[in-house]
Order: sequence, then C-alpha cells, then structure tokens
Amino acid sequence: MFRPRDEYAEPYRIKMVEMLRQTTREEREQLIKEAGYNVFSLPSDAVYIDLLSDSGTSAMSDRQWAGLMMGDEAYAGSRNYLNLVESVKEIMGFDFVAPAHQGRGAEHILMNMLVNKGDRVLGNMHFDTTEGHILLRGAEPVNCLAEPGYRVAEETPFKGNFDLDKLEEEIQKDREKVPLILITVTCNNNGGQPVSMDNIRGVNRIARKYGIPVFFDAARFAENCWFIKKLEPGYADKSIPDIAREMFSYGDGCTMSAKKDALVNIGGFLAFRDEDMHRKAIEWQIPFEGFATYGGLAGRDMEAIARGLREVIDEAYLEDRIGQVRYLGDLLIKEGIPIVRPTGGHGVYIDAASMFPHLPRREFPAQALVVELYIEGGIRGVELGGCAFGHVDPETGEEVWPVLELVRLAVPRRVYTDRHMAQVAKALSRVKERASSVRGLRVTYQAPVLRHFTAKFERV
Ligand code: F0G
Repeated sequence: MFRPRDEYAEPYRIKMVEMLRQTTREEREQLIKEAGYNVFSLPSDAVYIDLLSDSGTSAMSDRQWAGLMMGDEAYAGSRNYLNLVESVKEIMGFDFVAPAHQGRGAEHILMNMLVNKGDRVLGNMHFDTTEGHILLRGAEPVNCLAEPGYRVAEETPFKGNFDLDKLEEEIQKDREKVPLILITVTCNNNGGQPVSMDNIRGVNRIARKYGIPVFFDAARFAENCWFIKKLEPGYADKSIPDIAREMFSYGDGCTMSAKKDALVNIGGFLAFRDEDMHRKAIEWQIPFEGFATYGGLAGRDMEAIARGLREVIDEAYLEDRIGQVRYLGDLLIKEGIPIVRPTGGHGVYIDAASMFPHLPRREFPAQALVVELYIEGGIRGVELGGCAFGHVDPETGEEVWPVLELVRLAVPRRVYTDRHMAQVAKALSRVKERASSVRGLRVTYQAPVLRHFTAKFERV
C-alpha cells in the first residue's frame, strides 16, 4: 500500500541551502555538559541534524516566500486574511476563521469560550499545551485513547483512535460537564498515530446524541488524511481534499497550529462552522491575540499559511513526507532499535526503556539517550518520558512516572534528505552498541512545572 522509498524521489528541487556546522565529539561532550545535559539549552548551530521538533521548522516553498512579498499589513480587513479564509473554506469546509499567533493561542481562545471550572474535556489524547489550557480553566482533561494506542510494539493501524465505549461512559458520568470533545489528528503524544475516518464518524455520532460540539486539533490534519487514504478500506481512490472535507464535516470547528501542516514557521488559527461561535471567539481574540482579521499575525504570515494549506494536501508531497519518516523508522528497525510501531506521521519514537534496560526510571533513560545521540552524531531529539511527563508528588515527595519512556525524533518538513536520515540511524546504532555502558542522569535543577525545558542534570 505504501510505495517503496526507492521508487520515487522528492517532488521538489532545492533552490536555497543553509550550511550546517559540524562539531567534533570532544566539542559536543563539552557543549552538552555546559548545557546541563539538556538539549533545549544547546545553541542550534552546534546541532548537525535537528529533530527536536517538526513545529515551525518546515522549509517554505518559493510560492510561500513570494506570498510574503504580498503582505497587506492593514490593521483591519487585510487581503491576506481573506485569502486565508478562502483556503480554510475550501480545504476544511469551515466558513469562519480567527487567526492566532500559534496553536496554543487558538487553544486559549477556544477553552475560554467553552470551558468552565469543574468541566471535563474529552479527547483521544490531549497535547500538553491543550491540557495546560484546560487545567488553567479549572477543568479536567480526560484522554479516551483506545488501548492499543498505549502498546508501544503493537503493529495496529490507527493507534490514535478513541475508545468509543469509554468516550460514551465519560459523557454519561455527567453530560452537563462536557463542553466539547477534541479529536487530535494525528495523535502526537503516542507517536504521531492517525485516527480513522470510521472512528471520527463514531465520535461524531456519540457527540450528536448528547448535543456536544466536536473540535479537531488539526495541527497534522493532512498527514492524518494520508493515512486514511492508505490504510482505511474504501479510501484508496479518494483524493486528499475529499478526505479532508469529509473528516472536517464531522466537526464544528478546529484549532490549528499552522507551524505543522500549513508549512510555515509561525502562526495558527481557529475555524468554525457557526457564525455565533466565531463571534464569541472574537470577544477573546481581540484582547489576547489581536483584531479579528490578524490575530497576532502579520498579513504576510497569513498569506504563507493560506498558500501552505494548499501545498500540504498534495499527494506527492504527503507520500514523500510520510515516506521519509517511515524510511527512518525502517532503518532503525533494521538496526534493532526498539521504536513505537507502526511509524507515525511526523517522527520516529524510540522506546528508551527497552534500549537501556539497566537504567532505572529515576536515572531518566530517555534523557540519557537524547544526550548520547547528540554526543554520537550531533543529532538533537527530544525526551518524552519521565522528565517531560513525570512529576514530584507534592505530598509524598516521590516521583510519579508516566507509562512511556520515549525519545522523539521529529522530522521537519522538506528540510533534510534521506542521507541525513541514514546518518541518524548510524549514530543510533553506535549508541546501541555501547548501550550497556551508558550512564544515567540525575536532576540538579528543575522548575515546578514543564520542567523538561529548563531542567539541569549531571551524570550518575
Ligand atoms: N496541538 C498539537 C497536537 C501539537 O503538537 C502542538 C505543538 C500544539 C497543539 C501547539 O501548537 O506549538 O503552535 O502553539 N507541538 C509542538 C511539538 C510544540 O513539538 O510537537 P503551537
């Protein structure tokens, strides 16, 4: 169903390059030590291949760059806003659009509009910033991910799916406390795993039964559509625009981080089917983001988003993009590196717990792997394990560990070549060879919340 990688090449050619700095192993040993063994504190020019995030790191096309020159920086009624509305209408089928400075700005508006103290927001698996905004409203984020989504090695398609029985049970606990259901496509936290159309339809059916609005966290919507086309019976012959239109038809609106599937470096928006909801959004948008037709973005930024949305639904682009991520996953599998299966849309997630079985959770195996990968190849991944998702229980003073101990290698869009991916695989294979001698880390400084961004470590 997926064409082998060597049967096609990139559907673009490269007309501008950015030189990368190569460092020596000794330099990297020193740099990572100075950074407190935390890659968030590294200067990015000391990184050779940067897989920290796929967010805001895309290469824009010549058409998008040309669009920047067409910026209409009027305070109100910018033509670029109107172009953005046209793109969203056409691709997502939502008539009303409220720009925001990035995805979390859109989440802030949506949660302020709909969520009150004591509410429970149901989703397949909320992203951290979404969870943060729900908590800030005094509400509870509830994940209703189907079981296979938590099983790292299980090769099941659509591991981003909801457990529909659980969803309905959670609603029945107290319908009045559920202001919305949020479908995150693809599901970032467990490996960029897609949600099937059938499951989305099921969520919609349940939501209609109880009269609850459905929203999409659409950050990686086009990647989700590609998986539906490739893996879901009945969709092979449908176009990506048709699949996207059908998918969004099951929702009342979306939040969007344009830094992912709109192929831009900054920006986001909210979209709605209903004009009254849009009016309500504007009440929050104006004080927090900016006037209704710019919401924290320059006119030129909105133009780049409007154009990026049209580029991202191109099948040749999506085949190449997701094909490259799968290519990296396959190389790692060949090297015997334990990864989350199947490979998702935007990155490869490594199971650090099984790579370093000799390291206890309190020595942060995933963080240790991030450090070793940087030292080995100048490659920057990100820890999604005990440091990012664990916390210290304020009553017992004990660490509470999350289920998974992962390292994410997020692949930026249209930025690196397959030969870069091959270097990543080689470096990881060298780390694997010396895995049993890798030492763990101990925290020397941590902030009370979101500690992984600024934590400092030393080697055990
Ligand atoms: N929703 C999802 C699913 C995301 O992955 C992100 C960001 C956001 C919302 C927030 O969007 O960054 O534009 O404010 N994810 C980035 C990442 C940071 O690296 O996965 P934002």
